[in-house]
Amino acid sequence: MALDHMCAAADARHRGVRASLAAVSELLPTIAGDGPPAPELLARFEDLAVFLERHCTREEQLLWPAFAALAEAARRQQPRPPLPFPTMLHPVRLMESEHTQLRARLDHLRDLTVELALPVDAVDRWRKVRDGLATLTAAVADHERYEDEVLYPEALEVERRLG
Ligand SMILES: [Fe+2]
Ligand SMILES: [Fe+2]
Repeated sequence: MALDHMCAAADARHRGVRASLAAVSELLPTIAGDGPPAPELLARFEDLAVFLERHCTREEQLLWPAFAALAEAARRQQPRPPLPFPTMLHPVRLMESEHTQLRARLDHLRDLTVELALPVDAVDRWRKVRDGLATLTAAVADHERYEDEVLYPEALEVERRLG
């Protein structure tokens, strides 16, 4: 698959991530009044949502256009085009390190929803939030796997071949 088509496949994963994020966002008000650790969970989720949205937007606005330009140059057998980055290695490494941070933040959120002594009427609400977070975590992990193992190695390889 060409690099620009891989970006479209990554975009599809971003849509999945954003849909899962919105689903959890809608569930959180249902537990807001349940006492600790709800306030911490809500605050940390808000942090995660901002971080995740910024991460995806950076990829879409900075990396994908650069990758598309590399793919176009490769197709036309032209040299590496002028890009905002002297090499794609550094922005790629930055995104990979954000993936590690995302995993840690999601793990922490999950930890806040397990082994709670909840009133009976709250159990079902918290279970839905926990399931929503698990779906979000799976979507983020799928997005990371695709970028770390498929898209980014290919982008660096295309750039290397262009010289
Ligand atoms: Fe992404
Ligand atoms: Fe990413």
